[in-house]
Amino acid sequence: MEPLVAAIDQGTSSTRFLVFNAKTAELISHHQVEISQIFPKEGWVEEDPREIIQSIYECINRTCEKLGQLNIEVSNIKAVGVTNQRETTLVWDKETGQPLYNAIVWLDLRTQSTVERLINKAPGKDKNHLKYKTGLPISTYFSAVKLRWLLDNVDEIHEAVVKDRAIFGTVDSWIIWCLTGGKNGGVHCTDVSNASRTMLFNIHTMDWDPELCRYFDIPMDILPEVRSSSEIYGWMKSGLLEGVPISGCLGDQSAALVGHMFFEEGEAKNTYGTGCFLLRNTGTKRVMSDHGLLTTVAYKLGKDKPACYALEGSVAIAGAVVRWLKDNMGIIQTSSDIEKLAAAAGTSYGCYFVPAFSGLYAPYWEPSARGIICGLTQFTNKNHLAFAALEAVCFQTREILDAMNQDSGVPLKQLGVDGGMTANRLLMQLQADILCIPVVRPTMSETTALGAAMAAGAAEGVNVWNLSPGQLPHLTSERYEPELNPEESEYRFARWKKAVQKAMNWET
Ligand code: G3P
Repeated sequence: MEPLVAAIDQGTSSTRFLVFNAKTAELISHHQVEISQIFPKEGWVEEDPREIIQSIYECINRTCEKLGQLNIEVSNIKAVGVTNQRETTLVWDKETGQPLYNAIVWLDLRTQSTVERLINKAPGKDKNHLKYKTGLPISTYFSAVKLRWLLDNVDEIHEAVVKDRAIFGTVDSWIIWCLTGGKNGGVHCTDVSNASRTMLFNIHTMDWDPELCRYFDIPMDILPEVRSSSEIYGWMKSGLLEGVPISGCLGDQSAALVGHMFFEEGEAKNTYGTGCFLLRNTGTKRVMSDHGLLTTVAYKLGKDKPACYALEGSVAIAGAVVRWLKDNMGIIQTSSDIEKLAAAAGTSYGCYFVPAFSGLYAPYWEPSARGIICGLTQFTNKNHLAFAALEAVCFQTREILDAMNQDSGVPLKQLGVDGGMTANRLLMQLQADILCIPVVRPTMSETTALGAAMAAGAAEGVNVWNLSPGQLPHLTSERYEPELNPEESEYRFARWKKAVQKAMNWET
C-alpha cells in the first residue's frame, strides 16, 4: 500500500478529517462534523474549544472506520497535518488542560470600541499604524485585541496569568497541544502563517515582537513557540493514530494556496468558506498594499526553507450569507438549495445584498458597516434574493481582485478557486462573469486539507510527499470562462459599489 497522509481541517463551520494517498493525491476517505457557533450577544461569536477537540476525535474515528471498510490499515497513515480557521483566540490552563473561556471567533465584533480607541490614538488616526511590522490594519479581526479582551474581562484568565498557568493559542495551537498530550506534555506551538494573523508577530524578523506585545499589553510568556509550517511538532498521544507524527501546520487560507500548488509568484486562489479569502503569492517579497489588502506569511515549508508571503483580500461573509438565508430567514432548507432558487430567477432583478454582518473587511476595513438589501420592488421574491446573495460573494471578490491588480500592477489572468461553495456551478459562472477572467476549480474541492497533508507528508523525518509539481493524476480541474458582456458586468458592479456605500453609511 502506498503511504497515506491525513489532514485535520478545523474550519469556522465544521471539522473535517481527510486521508490522502501521498503518491497520487487521491482522497481516500473523510468525515465531517458541523461545529456549533455560540452568539451570546449581538456581534459576539464564540465556539466551545472542547467541542472542537471532540469533533476531531469523532472525525478521526469515523474516517478510520471507513478505511477499515475499504480494507485499508490505519497504520498506513504516516503523518497528520493541521489546518485551521485563523485568528480565533483561545486561552487555557496548562495544568488542568481546560479552556478558560470559549474560543473567540475571528468574526467576533466585541472589540470594536477597543479598536476605535486604538485607531483614534494612533498618529494621524491611521488604522495602518502597525502595518509595516504586521502587514495588518488595526481591526477586530486579528487575535491581539481578542486576547486583550480576555485578559481584561475574564477573571479566571487574569488569575491564571498571574499564577503562570495560562497559555494562549490560535486554533492550531490548541489542537496540537491537546493531541500531543495536553497537560501531560502537550507541545505549545504555532506556525508562521497562523502567527502572522495575531498582530503580535513581526513579519520581518519572523518572531513575536516585544514592542507589539507591549502595545497590546500581552505577556510574552503565554505565547506559543513559532515553528515552520512543515516539520515534526510532536506525536499523537492517544486514540487510533497514537504515535503518528503531526508534521504540518498552516492557516486554512495558506493551506489552500499550497493545495493548489501555487508556489510561484503571481499565482492566486480564492477559497469560499464561511468568508472568502483571495491570496496571491508574492514569493519571498513582502508587498505592502496601498489598496486595503493584507500582507501575510503564506507558508514556510521546512525549518531551513525561506518564508513565502502573500497579498490577501479577506471577505468576512461568503458561505455565511447562505447559512443566514437558511438558519435566520428559512428561505432554503439546505445550503445547496440556493443554487436552484438563484437559477429559477437567473437575475437579482436589480436587488443588491451587502452582507456586512461583521462590518466590512478588505478593502474597506469598516467595522461599523452593517448589512443591507436594497433595490427591492413588489416583484422581488426569494429567488431574486438568493441570486443577489450569490452575486454579493462575486462582487466582493471582484473588489479584492481590482485592489490586487492595482497593487501588483500585473492583472491576474485567471483565478484558482476552492471550498464548499465552488460546488455551485451557477456561482462559479457568475464569478467568471463578474471578474471578466476565467475561474479554475479543482474537481477535488478539498484543497485546504490537501495543502495541510502535503506539508505534513513533505516534512523532514516523514518524507513521503514530493512537493515538486509532477504528475498527480487525481488533480484535474474545471474551467469557467466569462460569458457576460463586460459592459453589463461593469454596470452591475458599479451599482454594487453604490450599495456598499450605503452599508457603510447606513446610520447617516
Ligand atoms: O481568517 C478566517 C479564515 O481562516 C476562516 O476560514 O474557511 O472557516 O471561512 P473559513
